[in-house]
Parts: sequence; C-alpha cells; structure tokens
Amino acid sequence: MSTESTKERVIIFDTTLRDGEQSPGASMNVAQKLQVALALRDLGVDIIELGFPVASQGDFEAVATVAGRVEGPTLCALARANREDIDRTWEALRAAERRRLHVFLATSPLHREFKLKMSQEEVVRRAVEAVSYARERFEDVQFSAEDAGRTEPEFLAEVVERVIEAGATTVNIPDTVGYTMPAQFSSLIAYLRRHVRGIERVVLSVHCHNDLGLAVANSLAAVVEGARQVECTINGIGERAGNCALEEVVMALRTRHDFFGVRTAIRTERLYPTSRLLSNVTGLQVQRNKAVVGQNAFAHEAGIHQHGVLMHRGTYEIMRAEDVGFTGNSLVLGKHSGRHVLRQRVKELGYELDGPQIDKLFEEFKRLADHKKEVFDADLEALIQGFIGPREQPAWKLETLSCVSGVGTVPSATVCLEHSDGRRVRDAACGDGPVDAVFKAVERITGQQVRLCRYQVTSVTDGEDAQGHVDLEVESGTRRFRGRAVSTDIIVASARALLEALNRAANTTTPLPVSSHDVPSMEVSA
Ligand code: KIV
Ligand code: ZN
Repeated sequence: MSTESTKERVIIFDTTLRDGEQSPGASMNVAQKLQVALALRDLGVDIIELGFPVASQGDFEAVATVAGRVEGPTLCALARANREDIDRTWEALRAAERRRLHVFLATSPLHREFKLKMSQEEVVRRAVEAVSYARERFEDVQFSAEDAGRTEPEFLAEVVERVIEAGATTVNIPDTVGYTMPAQFSSLIAYLRRHVRGIERVVLSVHCHNDLGLAVANSLAAVVEGARQVECTINGIGERAGNCALEEVVMALRTRHDFFGVRTAIRTERLYPTSRLLSNVTGLQVQRNKAVVGQNAFAHEAGIHQHGVLMHRGTYEIMRAEDVGFTGNSLVLGKHSGRHVLRQRVKELGYELDGPQIDKLFEEFKRLADHKKEVFDADLEALIQGFIGPREQPAWKLETLSCVSGVGTVPSATVCLEHSDGRRVRDAACGDGPVDAVFKAVERITGQQVRLCRYQVTSVTDGEDAQGHVDLEVESGTRRFRGRAVSTDIIVASARALLEALNRAANTTTPLPVSSHDVPSMEVSA
C-alpha cells in the first residue's frame, strides 16, 4: 500500500480457511490448510483468516501451525466477544509475523432477542469491553457486527462508533444471511460513513453471504460507497450458499476500473491455479459456468462468437484467459520428463512440497507415465492429494481384487484385504453391479456397517487412458466420512476410496468443525 492511497486500494481479506471451511464438506487437515494459505500468500491477499481457534483443539492447532509457517500477509483469527476467546486466539496467533484479532458480536434484533438474550445496551457494553480488552494485546483489532444487514441502522451506527472509540482498527459490516439488496447495502454503508463519528479513522469492511446470489453485487455496491476491505473466499465457498467469491470481486474491480477507480494487490494470474488447488483439496467442484474460474468461462462454442473473437478479442471477451491464469487442462509431462520439470510444474500449480514429497511424487508420476501416454496437470494434482490429503493410519489395505460383471450374469467380486496387524482376509460377495459387489465384500471383511451417501466418479482428464477419480461419503452413526482415490481402473479406485472412508471412521476422534454462528456466546469476565 506504499504507492497508492487507501482511497484507491481495496484490501482483500480472505476467509476461505475460516468461513469457507464451514461449508459442508470443506473441512481440511493442517497440511491442506497450509497449502491453501501458501497459495493465498502467492496470490497476494492482504489478510488471511486462518480459523476460529476456540471451535476445537484441532482448529487451535491448525491456526497455530499455519501462523508460524506463512510470512507476508496479515494472519487473522476469529474470536467471540469474551476474554477467554481473545486470550486463546492470542495464543494461537503467537507465532504470526503480523497478526489481527477478529472479534464478533451479533447486533440484529433477532440475534439479540433469541440468541444472545441481550438488550441493546448490553450488546454495546459487551462489544466495547471485548475490543478494549483485545487492544491490550493486539495492535490490529477488527470488530464485526454479525447480522449487520438486518440491524437497525441507528443502532448499528452507535455500535460502530463505540467500538471505534474503544480502539477497533477495522469495522466489518456482515450481511450474515445474504438478505440485503445491493441498493440497500450501499445505502447502509453510506449511512454509516455519514453518521458515525471517527469512521474515517478505521477501514470499513464488508462480508457478504450469497443466499440470494448477491454476495459479489453487495460487496461491489459497498465499495462504491467507500468500503475499503472486502471479505471473500476462493470459489465463493462458505456457509450455506457461500461467501463473496474472491475471483469475481477482484476481476470486477480490475475489469471495471473505469467505474470503480480502485485496485487490489491480487496477482490475478494466480486466480485460476488457486481456484483449482482449493477445489482439489476440498473436493468441492467448481461449476463449469462459474464466472472467472469455471471451465466454460473462456470457451466460445457458438460459431458467431468464435468468428468475432478471431476478428477482435474484445467483441466477446471482457477478460483474457491469461490474466486469470487459465490454462485449461494443459499437457505437462511424459515418460521422459525429469524431476526438475516436475518440481517446477508443482510450484506453478500452487503447491509447496518438500524434498521427500517431491521424490515420492516423482516415483508415482513415473509409474503413472508407464500406464498413460500423457500426464496432465489434473493427473499431477490427483497424485499430490495423496501427500497432503488426510492420512489416517490405515487399518485395512487393498491386496487384491477381481470382479465379474456383464449382461446375463450376477455381478460378483472377490477381495483380499490386509490388516495392519498382519492378518490377510479374503471374501466374496454379489451385488447390483461390480462396485456394489466390491463394497459388500469389503464390508464383510472389515465388519464395518456404513451407509454410502455419496458416490461420484469423474474422469481426471480426457482420453481413453484417463484416470478415474472416485469421491464418496459414508455415514457411520451420526457422522459422515469421506474417501477419495484415483486409478486408471475405476473399480480399484472405488475400493480404495471406500477403504479410506472406513479407515477414517475407525480412527476418528476429532469433533466436526463447529460453525461460529452456532457457538453460544459467553459472558465477558470483566
Ligand atoms: O457471516 C458472518 O457474520 C461472519 C462473521 C463472524 C464475520 O462470518
Ligand atoms: Zn460469514
């Protein structure tokens, strides 16, 4: 921010690892969070929200570990408005080079009455106490008025004014349930800028959810009225319908600089690799027609469009694929490619692997290259997930598998698994199809009864020799467990994915991530 005044610069606050991780199915382990945080650093985000340390011991450890490993951006973590949370968050962020505390308290009538059971006066008192206490430890304190979008503007202005007096350095206005309309939201920001004393001393931030598909529109409307921090997530992941999509808001500000007159520090050519990295890590696929990073975003099918683009790109293109780092599924390596080229490509894809990981990847890549003529980015990405993906101590490993299926025959499978205690168990089963038969045989061997609730096979790349990627979820009791595997044989990939989920179910002790919105508020012990 040295060369541009803050008036012209919009701060990008990424909350993929906090609000984004609260998306159903998006939880990440520490190694995955670290890869995402490093990719966000390379993307040029100003602030990375790492998590909500009080949600669980696992969240605390993830924040603390990543905080000590990522330099450059400000690292932030979320806390409720009480001293215990603030102290714990301080501990979690201790190793960070630059740290920010993000403290929140709901302000809307619904939240005050039914969730907090507090009067307006109590909300103001609690917010002020929390911010003052936080400022004793943190220089950089952000206050969020949860559900600001449905808060009475006069009361919101009072809360904002009081937390500024108490020392908040950034004040965030969330549209927590994605309820407001762009014109309303921009009026709210304008109202606060007109009525709050001291507002010019802080950065005014917005945090919009996408329940009505308006998160990006609302964020941009707020920028027009002077908001200078936008909170967003890669691919727009987040609670329910998600958060404001980072890539969309950034490209709107860049493409329409003539309209907004502001810039971000995002290296836009890292947008597409970062989007892919997140989708590979979480398994949450990006819809094909998603703006900026969807597979179709730069495809021109219609002849008239193709003709126009050939004559002049600007006829049907407002952004260039290369400006967002869109490469399609580029061919990278073949059988004879060396370790150096592999390492380089891994880096370009946004991953940071250490020496032993690269060695292992190289071995697996060579094995794959023996089966497949061409190895694409997506193949490499699938292999990399094996290193950073969740690695439970596997109780059962697949030894051998054979199956029969076809027309006029009952599908059946014979499976042999090896247990970590050295036992080898073989069994057979029939099923509705070969995958069902394999799953039944695996269940008979492991004795684990689960319900398959999601099963998806996708082709990692095009071509007859493409690898199949199986992503599934099983339900065991009240919990769901995910398994993923890749192989040129989809039945083998299915068996491995099931075993990964079963091993995880057998090993799991850590609780599921808790939503910040569900955690009951505690008293500030003054
Ligand atoms: O949506 C929301 O209100 C939040 C706050 C904690 C900032 O995520
Ligand atoms: Zn949120």
